[in-house]
Amino acid sequence: MKTVFPVAGVGTRFLPATKEVPKEILPVLDKPLIQYAVEEAAASGLDDFVFITAPGKEALERYFAPNAELDEFLGRHGKEGLLDGIREFYGKKFTYIRQEQALGFGHAVSLAEAAVGDEAFAISLPDDLILSEQPAMAQMLAVYEKYRSPLIAFMKVPRADIPRYGIAAGPLLEERVFAIEKLVEKPAAADAPSNFAVIGRYIMTPDIFPLLKRGSKGAGSEIQLTDAVVELMKKRRVLGYFFEGRRFDAGTTLGYIETLVHVALRREDTRDFTRRLLRGLAENGTL
Ligand code: UTP
Repeated sequence: MKTVFPVAGVGTRFLPATKEVPKEILPVLDKPLIQYAVEEAAASGLDDFVFITAPGKEALERYFAPNAELDEFLGRHGKEGLLDGIREFYGKKFTYIRQEQALGFGHAVSLAEAAVGDEAFAISLPDDLILSEQPAMAQMLAVYEKYRSPLIAFMKVPRADIPRYGIAAGPLLEERVFAIEKLVEKPAAADAPSNFAVIGRYIMTPDIFPLLKRGSKGAGSEIQLTDAVVELMKKRRVLGYFFEGRRFDAGTTLGYIETLVHVALRREDTRDFTRRLLRGLAENGTL
C-alpha cells in the first residue's frame, strides 16, 4: 500500500517561518516533522511514499535523497552516523507530485491518483504528530485488514476545539471502531453531532477519486476531503477509529510548544534536561 503525504499547503499559521521553509521541515528537536510521519509509516510496514508538494517546497523533495557533499564532509570528519536515521530511506521509493495551486487538502489527495491507481492507500498529515506504543498507521492497517472499509482516525476533543476539526458520529462496532453516520467539516460546537474529531491519518479506497474530482468547494473555499467522504458514505460504509496514543498538533504555535516538550521528555538524550528545566520553572513559580 502507498502512503500519500499531502504537504503542499501554504502553512499560514506558521508564517513568517513558512515563507521560505516548508512547515513539514520545521524540526521537533533535530528532526523535521515529515520524518516523524515517514518513520511512522515505515514502522507500520509501508515503504512506498507519495508526496504532494508545491512550488517553493523543493526542500521536501530533497530531504529523503542523498546529499553527496554532506556525506563526503561527514565521512571526512568521521561523523557518518549523524545521518543514520535518514540514510535508511535512501533506497526507498518516493514519488513527488506537484500541486501547482493550493486548492485544498482534498484537491491535493485527488492528485495522488496518478501514483495510487486503483488500490487502497494511506494518507498521513505530518503536522499531526502521534506518539504511541504501536505506530498509529499500523493500528489503522490492522482495522482496515479486518473490515476493508475506508477508515479515518479520530480522537475526542474538548467542546471549545470542535470548530477546528471535521466532526463525526455513529454507532460503535467494537472498542475503538465506529461506523460514521454523520460527518461535518468544522461545525459550530452547538451544531456538532459529537466531539469525535478527525485526525490526519486515513486509509482510503480509490472510489474517493471521482468524488474528489467533482471539486465542490467546502469550508474555507477549499476542496475538502471531508465533503468527498460524505458522498462516499452514500455508497459504502466508512469507519472511524479511535487510535491508541497521543496526538500533537504541531501545525500551530501552541501545539508546537507542546510537541517539543513531550518529544523531549520521551527521548533519552533530552529527558533529564527537560525535566530539570520544567521543574526549575515550576519551583520558581514562573510556570
Ligand atoms: P492545513 O489545513 O493544515 O493547511 O492542511 P496548511 O496550509 O498546511 O496550514 P495553514 O492552515 O495554512 O496554517 C492540511 C494538510 O493538507 C495539505 C497541507 O500541507 C497539510 O498537510 N494541503 C492543504 C495541501 O497539500 N494542499 C492544499 O491546497 C491545502
